[in-house]
Amino acid sequence: MNLARTMHTTAFRMALIYLVLFGVSVFVLLGFIYWWTAGITAIQTDDTIDAEITGLSEQYRAGGVTGLATIVRERSRNERQSLYLLINPRRTALAGNLNGWPDVTTQEGGWLDFPYQRPIGGKVETHQARGRHLLLGQGYQLLVGRDTHERLRIEKIMRRSLTWAVVLTLGLGLIGGLMMSRNFLRRIEAINRTSRDIMAGDLHQRVPVSGGGDELDRLADNLNDMLEQIERLVLGMRQVTENIAHDLRSPLNRLRSRLEVTLMGEASENDYRDALQQTIDEASDLLDTFNALLNIAQAESGQLEADSKDFNLSALVRNLAELYEPVAEEKSMTLTSDVAPGITVYGNKHLMSQALANLLDNAVKYTPEGGNLTFILRNSNNRPELIVADSGPGISAEDRERVLDRFVRLEASRASPGSGLGLSLVRAVAQLHCADIELDDNLPGLKVVLRFEEQEMQQA
Ligand SMILES: Nc1ncnc2c1ncn2[C@@H]1O[C@H](COP(=O)(O)OP(=O)(O)OP(=O)(O)O)[C@@H](O)[C@H]1O
Ligand SMILES: [Mg+2]
Repeated sequence: MNLARTMHTTAFRMALIYLVLFGVSVFVLLGFIYWWTAGITAIQTDDTIDAEITGLSEQYRAGGVTGLATIVRERSRNERQSLYLLINPRRTALAGNLNGWPDVTTQEGGWLDFPYQRPIGGKVETHQARGRHLLLGQGYQLLVGRDTHERLRIEKIMRRSLTWAVVLTLGLGLIGGLMMSRNFLRRIEAINRTSRDIMAGDLHQRVPVSGGGDELDRLADNLNDMLEQIERLVLGMRQVTENIAHDLRSPLNRLRSRLEVTLMGEASENDYRDALQQTIDEASDLLDTFNALLNIAQAESGQLEADSKDFNLSALVRNLAELYEPVAEEKSMTLTSDVAPGITVYGNKHLMSQALANLLDNAVKYTPEGGNLTFILRNSNNRPELIVADSGPGISAEDRERVLDRFVRLEASRASPGSGLGLSLVRAVAQLHCADIELDDNLPGLKVVLRFEEQEMQQA
C-alpha cells in the first residue's frame, strides 16, 4: 500500500480538511492569547511610567528641581527596572541612572522607545527600554522609563511557542491522518480482495468483519448477507439444472431405446401400435414434468403477480372435494370434508387448485385401500387454515423438510408413479400466497397444513 494511494483516499482528504481547520483554529486561538497578553503587559508598563511621572511632578511642584533631583537620585539607587534622567537646560545630567539622553525621536505624548547600556555583573549589555519625557519648565527635563528587555524576551518566547504549537499540530495531524487512511484503505482492500475472489469463482468467500460495529462493519454485514443470498440462489439454480438433466435424461433414453428396439426386430402392426402408444404416454409424462417445473419456477419467481386477484377459496376447496370423492371411493377410502364458507384469499386460483390437487393426489396415492382422508378449510384466529390429512404411512420427521425439494421421492414410494415435483409446487404456491406450510404426523398418516396470512373479513 503506497503513500500515493493512501493520499488519494477519501479518509485522508477528510483528515486533511479537518487538519487545516484545526490548524487555523489553533493558530487563531494562540495568536489571540499572545496579542492579548502582550497588549496587557505593554499597557501595564505605560501605566507604571505614568504613575511615576505623576508622583515625580508633584515632588517637583513641592520641592523644585533640587527636591526632585534628590528623589530621583534616591530612586535610581533602589529601583532596578525603572530608569531616570534629570537634565538641566545645558543638557547635563543632574540625577538618574541613565548615562545620557537617548538619541531617538520622541513620539506623540512624549513617549520614546530606546536602547541603553546596562552594566550587569561586570559586563555592559544593551537593553531596550520605553520611557516618557516630561518638560519641567526653565529648560529642565525629566525622562522616566522602564526596562522592557524581559517583556520583549517573554514575547519572543511566546511567539516561538506559538509557531511550534502550530507546526506540531499540523505534523501530528498529518501523521494521524495518514494512519487513519491507511487503516481505512486496508479494510476497503479486504472487501476488494473478497470481491475479486468471488469473481474468480469462490462463492464461499465472505467479507471480514472487524467486530467494532462501525459503518464499514455494517457494510460488510450487508454485503455478506447479499453474498449468502446469491450463493443460495446460484446453488439452487445449479441443483435444478442438475436435477432436470438427471431426471429427464433417463426417461428420454428409455423412450429412444424402446423405439430403436421396436424398429430392429420383426414387429407386427400391433407391436408398432403398442410402442407408439407407450411413447405417447411417456411423452405426456415428460410434458407434465416440464409443465410442473415451469409452474414451480414461475410461482417461485413471483412472475404471476399480474394474474393475482381475490378468489373464493371455500368454493375452490368444495369443488376439489367433490372431484376427489369418486377417486377416493375407487380405493374404498372415505373422504371427509369440512369447508367453512366465504373464505377469500388473494392470489392465483389456477396454481392454488393445482397445488391442492397435488396434495389430494398424494393422499390417495400413498394411503392403502380402506383408509381415511380429511380435507378441511377453516378460520383460525382470523387466519384461513387448510388441512389435507390421510391415514397412510406418513412421512418421518427427518424427511419432512426434504420432500418439499424438487425430484425428491422417498424410498417407500419408488414403486408408484410420480416425479417428486408435487410437493415442490405446493411449497412454491404457498410462498406465492404468503402462507406457511407445515407437514405433521396425523397419527397415523400425513397431515399437511397451509396457514394463510390474516385476511380482511369478507362478507360471504
Ligand atoms: N400423503 C403422503 N403419505 C406418505 N408419503 C408421502 C405423502 N405425500 C408425499 N409423500 C412422499 O413425498 C414424496 C414427494 O411427494 P411429491 O408429491 O413431491 O412427489 P410424488 O408424489 O412422488 O410425484 P408427483 O410429482 O407425481 O407428485 C413422495 O414420493 C412420497 O415418498
Ligand atoms: Mg405427488
